Amino acid sequence: MRIKGKEYRTIWFENNVIKIIDQTKLPHQFVIKELKTVNDAINAIKVMEVRGAPLIGGTAAYGLALAVQENNDPEFIKNSSKELVQSRPTAINLKWAVDRMMKKLSGINSHQILDIALNEAKEICDEDEKFCENIGINGLKIIEEIYNKKRDTVNILTHCNAGWLATINWGTATSPIYHAHKKGIPLHVWVDETRPRNQGANLTSYELNEEEIPNTIIADNTGGILMQRGEVDMCIVGTDRTLSNGDVCNKIGTYLKALAAHDNNVPFYVALPSSTIDWDINDAKDIPIEERKSEELSHVEGVDENNEIKKVLIYPTKSKALNLAFDVTPAKYITGLITERGISEASFDGLKKLFK
Ligand code: MRU
Repeated sequence: MRIKGKEYRTIWFENNVIKIIDQTKLPHQFVIKELKTVNDAINAIKVMEVRGAPLIGGTAAYGLALAVQENNDPEFIKNSSKELVQSRPTAINLKWAVDRMMKKLSGINSHQILDIALNEAKEICDEDEKFCENIGINGLKIIEEIYNKKRDTVNILTHCNAGWLATINWGTATSPIYHAHKKGIPLHVWVDETRPRNQGANLTSYELNEEEIPNTIIADNTGGILMQRGEVDMCIVGTDRTLSNGDVCNKIGTYLKALAAHDNNVPFYVALPSSTIDWDINDAKDIPIEERKSEELSHVEGVDENNEIKKVLIYPTKSKALNLAFDVTPAKYITGLITERGISEASFDGLKKLFK
């Protein structure tokens, strides 16, 4: 991924600290932050300095390595792993990454444990980058097909930020877009603003600008009319947890976009690395849906004339607000799942064929 012309990953380990791009400051300020302790990593996940299912997983993996570096005591490492898993509830990659780290570290008491932890965390991040790249190669075929029929700009709608900022590199939903752009296919992206935290406006549009891909931010309720007008050729979104039956839990509002796409015969794709598949839960009702502070709705953040980040109240002081962070799109509204191994039907059989 490119920021001001320079290649970055979203997380890396350097001089005994984790380095991240602080996403709470984007798009107005580009700040690289250091995480020195496992508590720093837990806090970064909680306050969303890092976010997006795959990047949360990568941060948790490196966070556990920081725990080992801090105090190589099995009890401390175990407690740290529990706290990491609890830092955000919905994205399954978090638990997946912590479980993988704990399995790797189990029974290792030697002084090599830190190297092993750091290597495994890097391995998790390298793998995510490779998987996201493959998602792009697989998803590119869908965009090519649309372009070959249309021979004109392909209009893609996306929700939230499932871009490189949500992963280690490439992104999930954006990876096919970046691959198509590199191939010279003319593209335009409709970016859902994605209230309340505006990840679409603040992060996806920022990324697309850096990559010089034409994009337009729209209010979350605009997608429907654009689809009715034939101005959306396809939707691609990410996911925080995909059930083995093909149901997809993603940022709040995804479900409504899928309904509108279904009503207007617009293909609706979900892009994901296999680390986002939850093979254990069979019923969407059992997915823990994160409920965040109502303050995220009642207050809006932006910059003032001095480029300082400010927060202002926009609701009546007495009003209550409900802030559910995710919803579930039933598999029947999903055209296909774009994974690192290929494109599958959103169903148990489809996923099973790819991931035996
Ligand atoms: O609450 P967030 O910003 O962590 O939301 C998660 C997401 O980034 C999205 O739901 C995304 O579309 C899936 S993660 C690639």
